[in-house]
Amino acid sequence: MYASRRNFLQKLAGSSALATVAPSMFNGLYAGNKYLIEPIRPRSANDKVNLALIGAGIIGHYDLNCALKVPGTKVVAVSDLYDPRLVRAKEVWGNDIQTTRDYRDVLKRPDVDAVLICVPDFWHDRIAIDALNAGKHVYCEKPMVHHIEEGAAVIAAQKKSGKVFQVGSQRASASAILEAKKYYEQGMIGELTYVDACVDRADALGAWQYTMPPTVDRNELDWDRYMQMADQKKPYKVEEFFRWRNYKNYGTGVAGDLFVHLITGLHTITGAIGPTRIYSLGDLNYWKDGRDAYDLVTGLMDYPKTANNPSFQFMTRVNLADGRGGLNQTRLVGTDGVIEIGWNDFVLKRLKRPNAPMYSTGYDALFTYPKAMQDEFVKQYDQKYPADQYQRMVKQEPEVVYNAPEGYDDRLDHMIVFFNAIRENKPSMVKEDAVFGLRAAAPSLAANLSAEQRKPINWDPVGMKVLA
Ligand SMILES: NC(=O)c1ccc[n+]([C@@H]2O[C@H](COP(=O)([O-])OP(=O)(O)OC[C@H]3O[C@@H](n4cnc5c(N)ncnc54)[C@H](O)[C@@H]3O)[C@@H](O)[C@H]2O)c1
Repeated sequence: MYASRRNFLQKLAGSSALATVAPSMFNGLYAGNKYLIEPIRPRSANDKVNLALIGAGIIGHYDLNCALKVPGTKVVAVSDLYDPRLVRAKEVWGNDIQTTRDYRDVLKRPDVDAVLICVPDFWHDRIAIDALNAGKHVYCEKPMVHHIEEGAAVIAAQKKSGKVFQVGSQRASASAILEAKKYYEQGMIGELTYVDACVDRADALGAWQYTMPPTVDRNELDWDRYMQMADQKKPYKVEEFFRWRNYKNYGTGVAGDLFVHLITGLHTITGAIGPTRIYSLGDLNYWKDGRDAYDLVTGLMDYPKTANNPSFQFMTRVNLADGRGGLNQTRLVGTDGVIEIGWNDFVLKRLKRPNAPMYSTGYDALFTYPKAMQDEFVKQYDQKYPADQYQRMVKQEPEVVYNAPEGYDDRLDHMIVFFNAIRENKPSMVKEDAVFGLRAAAPSLAANLSAEQRKPINWDPVGMKVLA
């Protein structure tokens, strides 16, 4: 594999294959569309995939509205534990939808084909398994599980059901990721040595202090049901319902929330299935609002050599109190170049290495020798490596710049992948299935374990098990 990449690079040397790709090349192809993956069209006006939304909070709205843009989808039911969100669901999606606190009501409906699971992390596995067992296709928000050990049962349920299951980290279908993958696979950056990736944020919303209702009627919020899947059964506390991410009892911290997106992107581009060792540090520096989750986590992971990739290091960070104002970036650094990815964009920078040995009249040892010796060195060098035949210095190649078309929505593409798989009744059309979901979630959750236990966590990405 590596040899063929080297050959590819050798063939590129001297060619003009690395001209800058103008974004208009892509815009032209997809002008006017906010998605790049073609949806499979319904066969008739009545050919609908009926949907139920479970968890009508922020991302529930985003996901369902996105799903409803895919041709041939219809919402028939919404479940949530806070009644005013059910009121809002009818305001947004119409009075004829069923609303219920108990998600099992929507799973009982034979006309529901698929569910969108948009509840806090600690409920994901339970609802996903129940939905698969009820014969529903499942779109489950990331991270797939709250604890690594929960993953195997979700994988087993997906397998047994034969239904389509997709985790909701949209980077698996994002155009910038899929385009970057092509360049990576062509060997454009040489051999990957490390990847650094961060999601840094600065403000209160970035740090999950989402708006709470001005008053909350205890009777309108089903705290007892909410607690059913919690590790620790806690007394009623409004913040722990509306700002659940801040508490380990319900959320998975910055690592589970955001490393998982970065790892999904990384695994999609490289085809890697996970690191073998995860080491991380966690601190709570700024957002001391009662939360027990860290606001800064830095993770180091080592990815082993596989058939697709050399061994490489993955350095990742989420800082919710970033004085620079925030940064979202993944850089894949290889021996010959780097792909710098933002969210829906990237820049590929490459260098061409010299084929003559280097010397310099600047920072090099040459000037430390007597003048006559320096002159003799240069004379011999010029004879052996004539400037018109040899490249003597490292050269930068033209950059390749990719920007997704204006108005592009990676979440919509991810939804299209989900519904295409449903329409074709082919779960394998989904790349981010339960196995992929666990392989992205587990290193993220292991980063929490490492920070808490102050030791590296060993992970078997093939068998998907934490090792002693
Ligand atoms: N893919 C992405 O880009 C993305 C972005 C944000 C959030 N998410 C994920 O989506 C999930 C939800 O996040 P959010 O920001 O929308 O949270 P949120 O708090 O805004 O919404 C969660 C909703 O789930 C409801 N709920 C809780 N337990 C329930 C249960 N057992 N049955 C029915 N409803 C229940 C709550 O009442 C609430 O309305 C999380 O897992 C999060 O990680 C993904």
